[in-house]
Amino acid sequence: MSAPNVTRITIDRRTALLGLAGCCLTGPVLAGPEEELPQKGDTLAFSDGPLEGKPVRLAAIVEGEPTLAVAVDAASGIQRTESRFAKIVLVRLPEADIDEDTRPYAVDGVIALSAICTHQGCTVNGWNKDTKSLLCFCHGSEFVPGEGGRVSKGPARKRIPVLPLAKSEAGEAIVADAFRGKPGPGV
Ligand code: FES
Repeated sequence: MSAPNVTRITIDRRTALLGLAGCCLTGPVLAGPEEELPQKGDTLAFSDGPLEGKPVRLAAIVEGEPTLAVAVDAASGIQRTESRFAKIVLVRLPEADIDEDTRPYAVDGVIALSAICTHQGCTVNGWNKDTKSLLCFCHGSEFVPGEGGRVSKGPARKRIPVLPLAKSEAGEAIVADAFRGKPGPGV
């Protein structure tokens, strides 16, 4: 069996640690900054790479290169970096690869999803070019962003929720509504 055609998204140490912190969490969800969800009206900032901390311009999201971001409180301008649930992965797909149910939540072919694997909470930081799927390297689960984060390969059983997006006049990503589903591990 040939190895899948995959790439790993570069993540910084902080993002990796937040992902590990979420790994294997199965108990009740605690309230607090570490569990904050993106809010309607939040902006997004790049969380890694040369543009880290800068507002996400949708034009900067490249097809085949999922990009990690974090939600930013629009009122205070503070990044929700304490919360693993505020970690977002952005994916650009051809319109034809986005199904009817997912299309209303995408902008210019860009889909935002929770970056937390629904199996045991690792950061989803891989991309399978062959299947156009997000890949979690912890145990190999795959998710189809163009089909609302559907699980295409386990052990994960729960889809990764989509975060509805809008676009500002300046072409920057804005959170249009709450996650379509509950982020984090589950079934
Ligand atoms: S935590 Fe992602 S596949 Fe197990």
